[in-house]
Amino acid sequence: MLLLGICFFSCVPEDVVAEIGEGEKGGCTHLSPEFAKLLPSAKDESLKREIVKTLSHLPKPHAQQFLAIANDISNSTALRTQALAALVQAQEMKAAPVVIKALADMPQEKTSIIAALGGSFQGCQLLIHLVDTKKIAAPDISFPVAERIIYLAKNNPTAKAIHQQAVAKRNKNVTTSMARIPKLEKLAEAKSGNPDIGKALFTGMCLSCHVVGEQGTGVGPALDGSAKRETHALLTALFNPDVAAESAYVLFRTIETSGVITEGLKTKQNARGTSIAHQGGMTSYIPHRTISQQHHAGSTSFMPTGLISSMPDETIAHILAYIRTLK
Ligand code: HEC
Repeated sequence: MLLLGICFFSCVPEDVVAEIGEGEKGGCTHLSPEFAKLLPSAKDESLKREIVKTLSHLPKPHAQQFLAIANDISNSTALRTQALAALVQAQEMKAAPVVIKALADMPQEKTSIIAALGGSFQGCQLLIHLVDTKKIAAPDISFPVAERIIYLAKNNPTAKAIHQQAVAKRNKNVTTSMARIPKLEKLAEAKSGNPDIGKALFTGMCLSCHVVGEQGTGVGPALDGSAKRETHALLTALFNPDVAAESAYVLFRTIETSGVITEGLKTKQNARGTSIAHQGGMTSYIPHRTISQQHHAGSTSFMPTGLISSMPDETIAHILAYIRTLK
C-alpha cells in the first residue's frame, strides 16, 4: 500500500490526482523507469509483480530484466508468466523461442501464458504466429483474447480462424445454456432453491460488480428490485449478456503505444486520460499521451458470458431463490 501511495503521488500531477479522486485504486502504472532500479533488491513477490507491470509500459529497455525473471524458476509461475508477456512486448517476434520453451517447460500454464500474451498488441501478434506454427491450437485461445486478435489483425487468415472458432464455441455454450431455461423456470416456480445458499454464492460471485442495498461494487447495475424480474429475463441476462448489452456497459478497450491493452468499463474520458473500472472496483487510469487507440469492444458486455453456465441446475436455483428476495 505504501508503494502505491508513493508511486501514485510521484508520477501523477496533482491536478490529475484531484480529478481522478483519491477513492480510486490501482491507477498507478505509468511511472518512471526509476522503478527498474528497485527490481534487484525486491524480495516480495507482489512488489516484483507491481514493478514488472510498471516497466511493461516502457518495455524495450527492460528486456534483459524480464528475461531473467521469466527464467528464474524460484519465482512463482504467475510472476514468470507476467515477465514473459512483458518480454514479448519488448522484443516482439524475437521472444518467440523463449515463449515456446516456456510452453514446453510449463505445459500446465498454457492457459495463463496465452491469457498474459493476450494483454498486449505484441502478444496478440505472437499468438497468431504460435497458431501458425502449431505450437498452440486456435481453440486454446479464449473469446476475449480472440476478440482482440481479430481487431488487431482483421485481414490475417489465422486471426480470422482463431476468431471464428472462439465465436462458434461461445455461441454453442450460449445455446446450450439457454436450452436449460425451461427446466430452471420450473425449479424456480417450485421454490426448490435455498436463498441462504444462494446469498453466499451471490456474495462470492456477483458482488464484485453489482450492488445490493449497501453492499457490493457499483461497476455493474444495482440489482435491488430484481425479485420482480421474470426468471426468463434474469437467466437470459446471465447466460447471454451480450444480446442486450446496454451501451453504458459495453466493454471498453485502450491500446497504448507500449502495446498494453486494458479492458473494462469506461468510467471517465477526457483530454487528460481515460479511467477504466474492473471487476472488484479497481480502476486503471490511462494518461492520454500513452494511448494509441481507444474504443468500445464491439457489442461485448462487461457482464461476463458463461459465468454460471457450468453450474448444475440446483446451484442456479439457489441463486435464483436469493434474487427473488431482492425486493
Ligand atoms: C464483471 C462484472 C460482473 C459480474 C462478476 C457479474 N455481473 Fe451481472 N452485470 C454486469 C454488468 C456490467 C451488467 C449490465 C449488462 C448490460 O447491460 O450489458 C450486468 C447485468 C446483470 C443483470 C441484468 C440487470 C438488468 O438490469 O437488466 C443481472 C440479472 C445480473 N447481471 C446478474 C448477475 C449475477 C447473478 C451475477 C453473479 C453470478 C453477476 N451478474 C455477475 C456485470 C457483472
